[in-house]
Amino acid sequence: MSEPIPYFDLPAQIRSLRKDLDAAIAKTLDKCSFCLGPDVAQFEKDFAKYLGAEHCVGFNSGTSALHVAMIMLGVGPGDEVVTTPFTFVATSWAISYVGAKPVFVEIDDATFNMDPKLVEKAITPRTKAIMPVHLYGHPFDIDPILEIAKRKKLPLVEDACQAHGAVYKGKMAGTFGEMSAYSFYPGKNLGACGEGGALVTNSASFDKRARSLREHGSTVRYYHDEVGFNYRMEGIQGAVLGVKLKHLAKWTERRRAIAKIYAQLLADTPLQLPREAAYAQSAWHLYVVRHPKRDELKKHLEANGVGCALHYPVPVHLQKCYASLGYKAGDFPVAEKAARECLSLPIYAELTDKQVQRVADVIKDFFKAGK
Ligand SMILES: Cc1ncc(COP(=O)(O)O)c(C=O)c1O
Repeated sequence: MSEPIPYFDLPAQIRSLRKDLDAAIAKTLDKCSFCLGPDVAQFEKDFAKYLGAEHCVGFNSGTSALHVAMIMLGVGPGDEVVTTPFTFVATSWAISYVGAKPVFVEIDDATFNMDPKLVEKAITPRTKAIMPVHLYGHPFDIDPILEIAKRKKLPLVEDACQAHGAVYKGKMAGTFGEMSAYSFYPGKNLGACGEGGALVTNSASFDKRARSLREHGSTVRYYHDEVGFNYRMEGIQGAVLGVKLKHLAKWTERRRAIAKIYAQLLADTPLQLPREAAYAQSAWHLYVVRHPKRDELKKHLEANGVGCALHYPVPVHLQKCYASLGYKAGDFPVAEKAARECLSLPIYAELTDKQVQRVADVIKDFFKAGK
């Protein structure tokens, strides 16, 4: 059998950057600036510039950034936040952490993102915010949702945790709402060597309060203006992200090229392939194909040394932790079907054309065998 193709090859990425990472981390060690500090401050500036946003506040995770966004919008017990049932569960955590209720809106079959046509119906007098997700790095359709948000005087929070470098109508996704959150979990398009996240905003007052909330509700040491958190980004992660950010545009280009190759090679298979909407340039965090025999195809790929993954096998409204919300199977048939049929193929900058070809060949063999 040929060399296995990992679903994601983080060791290859780290090997290619090792000298620069070692040097950057060594500098942080010399300075002993481990919690926030100059490396984090520099990364915040650089990432804000990359996005074309006014402010970026470094956090210890994307989940923490989303949590702080909910607090700053005054979301609390009894309130509702309109969001998507098809995402990583942390989107909803932020809503639950402040005692509010996630209200799910069905997704659009083509993009896996919240269907803008269904948002307005989900809004009630208790709604405090709208929080869609740029899932898999493909921007949700921002304009119609922003129009509803403005008309209803509701803030829009973008969960951009998978969308570093995604573009909506020529502008970076993550810069449209009151706030957005990014994750730098190691598997993301821009990943730390550990946990990391950011809150991005164009508002100076949100920026100021987020900086206080992430650091025990304090701007002057040992004086605490409100109950805060230890949500600081580590200095070493700031240094690592600074090194990696320089490569992000090139990596995103490579992901786009791979998505194009997959689209060509898999065009005549029975798979439903992901496509960019006319308004979008995806960051291609994930390349997710769909087929009713997903489980068999997954086994076939794995048996042939091709890594693949499921994002996500259970939609959030059917997760055990949210049983108390009272949703049931059949409430969001499009999301539930996506959960049954989705299969994520390898996509990362280090993946070679030859490997992409092999992934496609293994898939074609599956269908040739009459599956
Ligand atoms: C859509 C989405 N939201 C939120 C998060 C939470 O980010 P983190 O893992 O950095 O807390 C993630 C990342 O895993 C995510 O993919």
